[in-house]
Amino acid sequence: MEYRNMDQAQLTAEYEAVSRRFEELKGKGLKLDMSRGKPGKEQLDLVSDMLTVLSKPEDCVVDGFDVRNYGELTGLPCAKAYFAEILGCRPEECFIGGNASLTLMYDTIAKAYTHGLLHSEKPWSKLDTVKFLCPSPGYDRHFNVTKSFGMELITIPMTADGPDMDAVEEAVKDPAVKGIWCVPKYSNPEGVIYSAETIRRFAHLKPAAPDFVIMWDNAYCIHEFEGEYVPFPDIISLCREAGNPDMVFEFASTSKVTFPGAGVSVMASSVDNIKYMVSLMTYQSISYDKVNQLRHVRYLKDKDHTLALMKKHAAILGPKFRAVLDALDKEIAPLGIASWKRPTGGYFVSLDTEDGLAKRTLALCKEAGVVMTGAGATFPNSIDPRDRNIRIAPSLPPVAELEAAIDVFCVCLRLAALEKLLGKN
Ligand SMILES: Cc1ncc(COP(=O)(O)O)c(C=O)c1O
Repeated sequence: MEYRNMDQAQLTAEYEAVSRRFEELKGKGLKLDMSRGKPGKEQLDLVSDMLTVLSKPEDCVVDGFDVRNYGELTGLPCAKAYFAEILGCRPEECFIGGNASLTLMYDTIAKAYTHGLLHSEKPWSKLDTVKFLCPSPGYDRHFNVTKSFGMELITIPMTADGPDMDAVEEAVKDPAVKGIWCVPKYSNPEGVIYSAETIRRFAHLKPAAPDFVIMWDNAYCIHEFEGEYVPFPDIISLCREAGNPDMVFEFASTSKVTFPGAGVSVMASSVDNIKYMVSLMTYQSISYDKVNQLRHVRYLKDKDHTLALMKKHAAILGPKFRAVLDALDKEIAPLGIASWKRPTGGYFVSLDTEDGLAKRTLALCKEAGVVMTGAGATFPNSIDPRDRNIRIAPSLPPVAELEAAIDVFCVCLRLAALEKLLGKN
């Protein structure tokens, strides 16, 4: 029965039963982690043959070039060809970076701040106010990059088709609005795939700021854990065709294909943008880690081969997501105290409690030994105005631990809801 339909006596009895269950779980001294989207050990073992791909000096030569030496700042041509095929853009539009796409994103914002982007009238640091659009719920690290440069973060609501484009089109009329964060496929945390119409409207944006930038973080571009690979439009060519060739920077990496923190990243944009960024980067590094680039290209080969590997990741991840969704369906759905998305790719389940329950639920989880992403983290400045969004990351724990963790979560959510209904909190 839904909690809202229970009378006082029923609620009190339920509260007593759930409290007892909570104390029991607390007594177990659990230490479980559903906080960050890290692949589990099984996934890392799956790709560990990559470590021996380059075992002899002669393995390190590609197209007559020795990858052990300096050079090729923009990346190995074979790495550009590999990522261009994955993203659907051209090799010359790809810049191959180091171990983390987040570094390339940070660097793009940092360069806008210190030097300006290709079409900036002046560096953003010289402006009184810089505003950045943050579709929410979204990825905390994105928001914090722009926050760390003192920018004003503006919340854009997410819809089932991606960011609310009416709100985006209205916001970009302000010349102080310099950009937007996007995770277009399997958004973090909701797993939303932007619709074709949303993507079209992005490509055709007419911002007042000439240096407005779409930070298109395609982190989950090949990360289906259920069903077949979903093809996705290439934003670089769509922006070019719409007359906005320099408005977008796209990012991706192999963090959740091979090793997080030891993979290869890519930044794709117009040839002019890449040229401009390289003109600044040339003082920053002589070259990135091309040994790792070659190791990845030799191991992952091409898009088809990589998609076959992603199916193996899916076979490990799928049951974990199902364990979470099954528990929510069984334990929470009948009570009417929360709703959640059912993603088919990405790394998260996004759950909305009834207003005002997220912080309390996560505090209870912590008390019972389950670490979750902090409440509010999915909103700018870590403030969820309705205190309701919770990001669940099921990928790291083995299934048995995950079942224990989600059991604790369900009990904590029920307890938080009952406390509120009974005026105890
Ligand atoms: C949307 C999104 N972008 C980027 C990253 C980090 O990517 P990388 O390891 O390439 O820095 C994550 C990690 O969780 C993510 O969720």
